[in-house]
Amino acid sequence: MRAAAYTGAGSAAEVVSIQEIATPEPGPGEVLVKVAAAGLNPVDVKIRAAGHDFGAIRYSAHPGWDVAGTVVAAGEGVQEWSAGDRVFALAAFPEAAHTLAEYAVVPATDLAAPPRRWTAAQAGAAPLAALTAWQALDAAGIGDRAEGRRVLVLGGAGGVGHLAVQLAASRGAHVIATASPAKSALVAGWGAAEVVDYRDKAALSAIGPVDAVIVTVDGAPPHGAIGQGTAVVTITGLSKEQEERLREAGADPVTRILVSADGAQLARIAALADAGALTVHLDATYPLDELAAAQERVETGRVTGKVVVLVDADADA
Ligand SMILES: NC(=O)c1ccc[n+]([C@@H]2O[C@H](COP(=O)([O-])OP(=O)(O)OC[C@H]3O[C@@H](n4cnc5c(N)ncnc54)[C@H](OP(=O)(O)O)[C@@H]3O)[C@@H](O)[C@H]2O)c1
Repeated sequence: MRAAAYTGAGSAAEVVSIQEIATPEPGPGEVLVKVAAAGLNPVDVKIRAAGHDFGAIRYSAHPGWDVAGTVVAAGEGVQEWSAGDRVFALAAFPEAAHTLAEYAVVPATDLAAPPRRWTAAQAGAAPLAALTAWQALDAAGIGDRAEGRRVLVLGGAGGVGHLAVQLAASRGAHVIATASPAKSALVAGWGAAEVVDYRDKAALSAIGPVDAVIVTVDGAPPHGAIGQGTAVVTITGLSKEQEERLREAGADPVTRILVSADGAQLARIAALADAGALTVHLDATYPLDELAAAQERVETGRVTGKVVVLVDADADA
């Protein structure tokens, strides 16, 4: 089969290649998926540039974690999936997977049936970002019934942010999101009641205390948004000093999360999508042969929604 491979650490142009390698076989508890589409995330480009593990996140010379496709074979002990089933997954994360290939082995517990409303490209693009948004909201105490709760999403136009805005809105929260003016209308369309220009210091300081802040960009939340008991969940990290200042201002908890693969949560995300509450905005779609260009697009930091690789040219984009 054809599969993406890194030839070492370095830039996308230097180290991304497409190689012919043996098609893997599913072991116990695993399924083999014919890949239709595989999303890209900032972690893919960071780990490629470094060429080694990132803490708990495993480096592999055959990369990729997001996947949508069709089951072709189920390993020993797998009852719930069989050949022909359409599936999507965040595969094995933070362990290594290699979904940027024509076929990929995925742990059965990571799989869910994709939303019928989404294209294969949208389903392949979503899992890591959607699970991150879901798990961040849960960690912030923004559960299923969040009516009347104020949630600030820092970075409302990115891969994780645009899904966090929609998920928080679907849980009933009053969502405030930051974005550049050019993306403001899109972010409002995803359910943000207020969109604040992230370069406008006065507008940022005018955001009053919120119940929860989901931080998907570098840096700390604006001071005015923090009150007694404001939950701050970051997916990018905060310095010790930033954490201390937030706690002094009353923030509690202040937490950093790392997303984990979870097929059951993905099934709940798919149900919301089928109910019309969640869409995936595609910034750009690339064929597998153009993986280097796709990674360069992610590296700009200017992506709106998601970048996805359409591995099977016949799949619906
Ligand atoms: N901990 C975890 O489990 C986890 C999981 C997923 C992602 N992450 C990390 O979280 C970060 C976000 O990931 P992502 O996939 O959402 O990124 P992304 O899609 O690449 O984010 C790009 C978007 O961020 C916007 N943006 C940039 N700076 C901003 C700012 N200061 N305020 C508001 N918006 C801003 C950009 O808008 P403009 O073009 O208008 O500037 C662009 O639309 C990355 O560092 C990633 O590695 C961590």
